[in-house]
Amino acid sequence: MSISRNDPCWCGSGQKWKKCHFPQLPEQNEETLLRQEYLKKYRIILKTPEQIQKIKKACKISAEILKKLCDAVRPGMTTLELDHLSMKLHHQYGAKPAPLGYGYPPFPKSICVSLNEVICHGIPDHTLIKEGDILNIDVSSIVDGYYGDCSAMVTVGNVSEDKKKVVETSYNCLMESIKILKPNIPLSEIGKTITRVAHENGCSVVYQFVGHGVGLKFHEEPEVRHHANAVHIPLAEGMIFTIEPMINAGSADAIIDAKDKWTARTIDGKPSAQWEHTVLITKEGYEILT
Ligand code: MF3
Ligand code: CO
Repeated sequence: MSISRNDPCWCGSGQKWKKCHFPQLPEQNEETLLRQEYLKKYRIILKTPEQIQKIKKACKISAEILKKLCDAVRPGMTTLELDHLSMKLHHQYGAKPAPLGYGYPPFPKSICVSLNEVICHGIPDHTLIKEGDILNIDVSSIVDGYYGDCSAMVTVGNVSEDKKKVVETSYNCLMESIKILKPNIPLSEIGKTITRVAHENGCSVVYQFVGHGVGLKFHEEPEVRHHANAVHIPLAEGMIFTIEPMINAGSADAIIDAKDKWTARTIDGKPSAQWEHTVLITKEGYEILT
């Protein structure tokens, strides 16, 4: 006896066999082959159109939360108050903050807030934000299981020349490195562009922290180095990653707080700044998702 495609499925679902357990041949179009190649060769997940839609939504929400947090900054408030607002906003958007409980030791708060000489991974606490400060707010949100990641700088009142310089230069580093993105250029072009812009402006590039693939997980392959490097993986349509250059006024070297194991500061105490976007590589070039 044999069943035909339109018969009820043998599993008892009541659906037609062709809609249920009918054996499917794997799709073998160009996209699937490229996806398999990138996964095998580089452990990079090229996203499907369905995944892209979900990640876009997560990115949009991260960006909106980030905008609201930046707008809320006032001298005299603590960085902990920003964390509380972030918790509230994540809840309102039906999102989860990815940093909370992440890594080891578990990151204790919902966002990173990095003031002045803090390069990244600053932990919100009772520190007062004051006139003359610069701060980075880093928001990573999980929406429906998908991830978005972005950060921005806020300047509080009048800031020193060095601080102004790192804030502007890190922004230009990010945007110049985004402008060049398109399929087939080597990943290393990002670090090359960032290093050029930083050095032209008398700044140094942090090499101890990197951008990263993002979307299905918080941190995926590839590592996106911001300094000059030799990782020449060709970009491909469907890649989603962050670029998040950390730019210093003095030495490039970072030291991690011995007590909290997270806060990274410049070794010389000079200011540092960072901006971050999540980007998608498209057929034509790129799309900024945050
Ligand atoms: N954008 C930062 C990163 O990708 C966010 C760090 S959150 C933390 O590393 F929990 F890891 F601190
Ligand atoms: Co990131």
